[in-house]
This record gives sequence, C-alpha cells and structure tokens, in this order.
Amino acid sequence: MGIEEEVLSRIKPTPEVRVRVSKAVSSILDAVRSRALEREMGLETMLVGSVAKDTYVGNPDLDIFVLFPTMVKRKDLQRIGLEIGREVLKDGEARYAEHPYIHGTWDGLEVDLVPCYAIEDPSELRSAVDRTPFHTRYVNSHLREGQHDQVRLLKQFMKGVGTYGAEARTQGFSGYLTELLVLRYGGMDQVLEAASTWKKGQVLTLGENGRRFDEPLVFYDPVDRDRNVASALSINNLALFIHAAREYRARPSLRFFFPRPREPLSLSQVNEAMKERGTELLVVRLDRPDIIDDDLYPQVRRTLEGVVDLLERGGFVVYDKGFRIGSAIQLAIELERATLPVAVRHDGPPAWIDNARSFLEKWNGRGLSEPFLENGRWTVMVRREHTDAAALVQDRLGQAALGSDLRGLEGLAAAGGELALREENREVISDLLDKRKAWEV
Ligand code: UTP
Ligand code: MN
Ligand code: MN
Repeated sequence: MGIEEEVLSRIKPTPEVRVRVSKAVSSILDAVRSRALEREMGLETMLVGSVAKDTYVGNPDLDIFVLFPTMVKRKDLQRIGLEIGREVLKDGEARYAEHPYIHGTWDGLEVDLVPCYAIEDPSELRSAVDRTPFHTRYVNSHLREGQHDQVRLLKQFMKGVGTYGAEARTQGFSGYLTELLVLRYGGMDQVLEAASTWKKGQVLTLGENGRRFDEPLVFYDPVDRDRNVASALSINNLALFIHAAREYRARPSLRFFFPRPREPLSLSQVNEAMKERGTELLVVRLDRPDIIDDDLYPQVRRTLEGVVDLLERGGFVVYDKGFRIGSAIQLAIELERATLPVAVRHDGPPAWIDNARSFLEKWNGRGLSEPFLENGRWTVMVRREHTDAAALVQDRLGQAALGSDLRGLEGLAAAGGELALREENREVISDLLDKRKAWEV
C-alpha cells in the first residue's frame, strides 16, 4: 500500500463511524431546533465545521451554529445562545475568549454550540464567527470528488508534525485553512510541493486580494477578502511546516502522519545533558488560573517574555526558553550561568561633562572600587543587586510584564542551577532539551 492509502485506511471514517456521526447530528439538530423554535424569534440552526464538509479525521466534534436575526441585540444573542446550549447539552459549559459559546458532549462526541448573526454578506459581519456558515457553504460548493480525502491527509500530516489547530495553544493551521490549501493546489502532495518553496510573508488567494497584511502567511478569505485566514499561524509554525514539507518530500514516511509518542528524558539523562552543555537552568512555577486555554496560553507566553526580560536586565544571559502547562504552569529558562559574581561594572559619564560630579558623589566610597577613568569616562565596580537568578525572579517578578491572570503570582516558586534538576521539573526541562522533530523519534 502507498503511504496515502495507508494513512487513509487509518483515519477515514468507517461506515460505523459515519452512521454514529449522522445519528448524533440529526438528534442534536432536532434538539437544538426545537429549543430555538420555542423562542419564536426566527432562529435558524445549522451544522457547520468538518462534519458538514465531510473533511473530518477520527472522531469529529460537532459544530452547531444558531443563527440570530441581525436586529437581536448582542447581549440577547449571547444570553439566549448560552441558554439554548445549556438546555441541550447537559454537561455544557460556557467557553469564550471573545465570543461566547457552549462546549459539551452528545452521544459521546464533542460539541461546540455557537450563536452567531444571520448576515446577508460576510462584509456585514457583526460577531467574529458570522463568517463560519459562509465558509461551510464555500467549501461544500468548491471541494471536488476526491479532494475530501486530500483534506483529511493534509490535516493528519499537520497533526503529525504539530502544526494543526488555530487555537492559541497551537498557533497553527485551522481546518478551513487546510481546506483552502487543497482547493488552491489540488491535493496534499501539491500543497507540500508548494510549501517547500514558500517564504515568510507568502501570499495566497483563490480570488481577490483585499487589504495588505503583515503576517507570516496570508491566505485571503474567499468569502471576505479583507480577512487573512492564516492570521493565527505563528512564524515558527509556518517555518516548521515548510521544513516538514521538504523533509517529507525528500524521505516520505508514515512517521510524519503518526509520530511515535515520545518519552520525556529521565532525570539522569537531563543531568548528563546539562553537564555536557555547561549551562544552567532556571525553572519558575506558578499556579494555573482557572481560565480557558485561549486566554491562558497567550498570558503564559507574555509572562515568559517578562521573565526573560527581567533576567536580561539583571545581567543574565538567556540561551533558550520554554513552558509547559499541566496542573501548574512551569517556565524553563536556560542560562549561561544561574548565578553571577557580586561585582558588576557600572559606566558613568566622561569626566568633562557637568554631571560627572554627581556620579562621583553618588559612588565615592559606596562601590566595590573608587570611580576610575577609562578612555576619559568614569567607571566604577559596584555590587550587583541579585547574584542569583531564582532570587531575582522571586523578588522582582511582580514588576515584570505578566499575563493579567498571573499578576497575583499565586504559587510562585523559582529554582536555579542544580536545584532546578528535580523530578517535578523533568518534563518541562525535557521539552526544552529534546529538540528532535515529531517524525524523527
Ligand atoms: P473547528 O475548530 O471545529 O474546525 O471549527 P473544523 O473545520 O470543524 O475542523 P476539525 O476537523 O474539527 O478540526 C469549525 C468552525 O466553527 C467555527 C470555526 O471558525 C470553524 O469555521 N468555530 C468553532 C467558531 O467560530 N468558534 C468556536 O468556538 C468554535
Ligand atoms: Mn470541528
Ligand atoms: Mn469545533
């Protein structure tokens, strides 16, 4: 069997799955419709997403939209949308970063139940998700026979190499974007062939281009030319996808689609790797706030940047950084040294400048040396405020730029050097040190 056939045989819905999905779809549509009808306000119910487009892989989630007439006020749409969701989905919980919806399960399948406005034209959009019904109709009217499987293959490739999913956690390619790529190029192989020559700032389109975007990849939305479908994609995930496409074309393998699960390094492997590198680690731990991933991940990234900035301003040299979100948040930072000498050079003004006097008054008798001249400038050796990276973070993290729900510094603990190399930090350190690509393991 060729690779494509083998992959499809593992990911294509079996007749049993199809029956299960279509039964679940009709029963949930009935349930939502009758709740929507009770409101007597002209609500419509629509199946969208990959089940509506027949492009799902494995066990799909059901994406159900409730369309509201545009004269309904936004807060009523939100309230009634959430009410209907909770009535239908017994285990439903509200989730939202910007637009409210209910997530739950139905017949063992995940469900997103999302209220939106029934707009006539995507340019009249009132809420962030109003284009979705247009996306579903666009894909359904353009995807040709055989291309549904090509979308499945591309999705599975993206999942395997780690670039699938537009949520904040992944910053990758959305389902709709993979569908548009197949429409643009024909099939998975052609997408990978094209991607291996993409550059940063690549612009793609199926119709007209709208306004300019300064983003790593631009794919003009065929239903709204002023929107970039790839706006969630990070520069690193674009680069990773380009690299994976080149590697796959050079050496095709099932591993790209189905990477082996990876074991984290053992503590002794971690110790050995650190000894070999001669660098030191700092691990910072914070309690995980009870917010959704779409809010949490950007905040953790911002906080990690804040910690790096704090360390660099404190004289530490940062080599690499990473994070892991489990039951707690852990930030791992690789430093040239986790402790610095007490002495630090502090440069002042040239001797002929007026405020040379105030520099001398400030440092006379207060530094580790008397002020001295170098190339005509005053310089003095002074005492560093924090010689220990962990202590610096403990004392000063509150003054760094942090994610808003992390500003309370709940559960803050920082450990540097040897102290960082312990069991509870093993996974976050392993993630940082183990740079093998998913398909290489
Ligand atoms: P999905 O993320 O479920 O993608 O969103 P998909 O195309 O069905 O692909 P897979 O196979 O599940 O991965 C479906 C549609 O619903 C919208 C998205 O914009 C997308 O077009 N959606 C979903 C929202 O707008 N908001 C949500 O909270 C969830
Ligand atoms: Mn879906
Ligand atoms: Mn969904």
